Amino acid sequence: MTTILRARVAHTPRDPFAGSGALETFDDGAIAFDDAGVIVAIGPYATVAQQHPGARIEDRSECIAVPGLVDTHVHFPQIAVIGAMGLQLLDWLDQRTLPEEAKMADPLHARKTAKRFVNALKANGTTSALVFGAHFPQAQQALFEAADAAGLRISSGLIVSDRNLRPDLHTTPDAAYEASHELKARWHGHNRLRYAVTPRFSVSCTEAMLDVCHTLLQETPDALFTSHVNESPGEIAFVKALFPDARDYVDTYERAGLLGRRSVLAHNVHVSDEELRQLKQTDTAIAHCPSSNAFLASGIFPMVRHVEAGVRFGMGTDVGAGTGLSMLKEGLVAYHVQMIREEGHLLGPAHLLYLATAAGANAIGLQDTCGDFTPGKQADIALIKAPEGSTLEMVLETAPDWEATLGALFTLAREECVIETRVGGEIVFARV
Ligand code: GUN
Ligand code: ZN
Repeated sequence: MTTILRARVAHTPRDPFAGSGALETFDDGAIAFDDAGVIVAIGPYATVAQQHPGARIEDRSECIAVPGLVDTHVHFPQIAVIGAMGLQLLDWLDQRTLPEEAKMADPLHARKTAKRFVNALKANGTTSALVFGAHFPQAQQALFEAADAAGLRISSGLIVSDRNLRPDLHTTPDAAYEASHELKARWHGHNRLRYAVTPRFSVSCTEAMLDVCHTLLQETPDALFTSHVNESPGEIAFVKALFPDARDYVDTYERAGLLGRRSVLAHNVHVSDEELRQLKQTDTAIAHCPSSNAFLASGIFPMVRHVEAGVRFGMGTDVGAGTGLSMLKEGLVAYHVQMIREEGHLLGPAHLLYLATAAGANAIGLQDTCGDFTPGKQADIALIKAPEGSTLEMVLETAPDWEATLGALFTLAREECVIETRVGGEIVFARV
C-alpha cells in the first residue's frame, strides 16, 4: 500500500554549489512511498493524491518535511565531553576525551552510552551517520546493536591505534585485524549497517597499523574508511615528525592505499593545494565540522578552495568537540564561519540544506539511497514543527518565501523542533 505524507516539503535534488535552482519546495506538498519505504512520488499534494487514489494519507500539513539529516562525523563515546572548554585538540584529547573513551572498557557503560547516543541522533532528525567508534570490541559491538535496534543507517567501526594515546587504548596490528575482521563479518551489510575501517589518526598509528587498515578495506566491498586529517597546527607538526618520508598529512593515508571513493576524512582545515589535488584525484570525501573547528580553535575550513578543487564534502557534528548533535545548528555555525571569511557570502539556505542532507549522503556513499526525495530513494524524513509560542513560530508565520523559512529553520530550529523521524518510511522517533 502507498502512504502519502502531506506536509510543507523542501529538499535539494541538485547541487547548489554547481548552480541555481537546486532547491525544490512544495507549500502544500506530499511525499508518497511504498511498503518497502521507496519514494514513488513527490510534488503538490493535490497532484500526488490524484495519482495514488487508494493511498493512506498522513496529514502533517502543519510540519516542514526535509530529508533525514546526515551526520558524516560524530563520536559515540564523546557525548559526555560536550562543552569541555578551554583546550585545543591535543590537550583536549589527553585531558578530557581519551579518559572518557577509556571508560568504554566497561561493557555496561558502553551499552548504556550507545543506546542513549542513537536515541539522541533520532531526536535530532539524523537518519544516517558515519560514527567514529570505540577502541574496545565489546563497546563497538554495543554501538552496532543499538544502531540496529534504532533502525538508523549507521556506518561505524572499531577504532584502531598503536601509539601516542594512553596505553589502555593501544592495540597491536594483529589484534586490530582480528577484532575488526570479526566485527565486520557480523555487522557489515546487516540491515542498515555498514563497517567503517577507523584508525584514530596518523598520530596514533604506525605504518604497520595503517597497512592492516588497507587490508581490511580491500577485503570488504562497500566498507568505508574514516579518520582525521589536517585539523590543528600542533597535530600536523606531530604527523610530520612521525612520518618524515611522507609528502604531507594526506600522504600518510595515501601511501598506505587508504584514499578513494569510500574514504571520508574529518576536518581538513589546514590543507595545501597539493593535498586538495590528491583528495580530488582519489575522490576522497571530507567531513566538515564547523562547530568543532571553532570550539577547539582549530581554524576556519577553506570551503571555497574545496568547492573550486571539486573535493566532495558533507557536514559532521564531531561531537564531543562539536557542540551538539543538531545538524541544523551545525549548518548555522558553518554559515557564521564562512560569512567571516573574506570570501564570505558563499552559503545560503539551499546550501545549508544540501550540506546537511544530500552532500552528506554523497560523502558517505549513500547517494543512491537517501539525502533527497527523488523517487526511487528511501523515504528518510525529518518532520519539523515550531513549538507553540516559540521565536521560530513567530518568524515562520511571517516568512515571505522558502529562503526565509529555511534560513529561520537553520537559525532557530533545534532538537525540540524535530517531532518525527522516519527511515525508509518507518517512524523511528516520535516526540511525545
Ligand atoms: N583527532 C583524533 N581524535 C580526535 C577526536 O576525538 N576528535 C577530534 N576533533 N579530532 C581528533
Ligand atoms: Zn572527530
